[in-house]
Amino acid sequence: MNSKEYLEAAVLAAKEAGKIHRKYFNQKLKINIKGTPFDLVTVADIESEKKIVEVIRGYFPGHNFVGEEEQYDNTDSQYTWIIDPLDGTNNFAHSLPIFCVSIALAKNDELILGVIYDALRDELFYAEKNKGAFLNEQKITVSDINKLAGSLLITGFYYDRGKDMMETLDKMKQFLQLNITGIRRFGSAALDLCYVACGRASGFWEYVLNPWDFSAGKIIVEEAGGEVSGRYGENISLQKSYIVASNGKIHNAMLEVLK
Ligand code: IPD
Ligand code: CA
Ligand code: CA
Repeated sequence: MNSKEYLEAAVLAAKEAGKIHRKYFNQKLKINIKGTPFDLVTVADIESEKKIVEVIRGYFPGHNFVGEEEQYDNTDSQYTWIIDPLDGTNNFAHSLPIFCVSIALAKNDELILGVIYDALRDELFYAEKNKGAFLNEQKITVSDINKLAGSLLITGFYYDRGKDMMETLDKMKQFLQLNITGIRRFGSAALDLCYVACGRASGFWEYVLNPWDFSAGKIIVEEAGGEVSGRYGENISLQKSYIVASNGKIHNAMLEVLK
């Protein structure tokens, strides 16, 4: 199989999902609650995932799928597509224009491709293993900042509002006391990672993310020259994880605060 076809399929699927996002954005949608009262789902999430799987299956009928909204039967393929059909659902449900679609491809346990599309801004971020990271065909790289002071950081809050959330609030205080420029909370982990990859921010952390939230963003950050790890600097697998992403130069300083 020509690897160009993986990128072609992922970009086509992401753009199709983007059309669905644009169709439903700012409409009065029925909002359903999945687990906790903060974990929402809309018709746009469900329709996008169906479309993405349909497009990719058109290219690769035998591949595996892990999606946020549906369960899929396992095949014996080495390839798994990891899909967040709408990352930033809470924003979307409040007509706040910060959300995207995130699609990654893993061969066995190794990420080989990531595509993230922000339909409202028409920003397509993508990366293939060892081929660099791009935003709308332009190569992107992480920021040059090499200390926390003066860095812009991003964080996120998982749906659990327990001890981990309290700890994140505490870590925010600690970072702010180290003279960082600021902390942002955009509400879309996939875009947060893209913003680190293209240097709009220098670091990001979140105490729990699912593989569909971070997989595409992880390879995009790494291919842009950045670093992604767990909170103790360990490699992360494609499982629910604590995520620290940075331009690499401030990674240890971030870990020092987050450990
Ligand atoms: C959420 C967003 C958010 C992050 C949450 C995620 P969803 O994904 O990425 O930024 O803080 O942890 O679950 O539910 O909008 O796809
Ligand atoms: Ca998500
Ligand atoms: Ca989602």
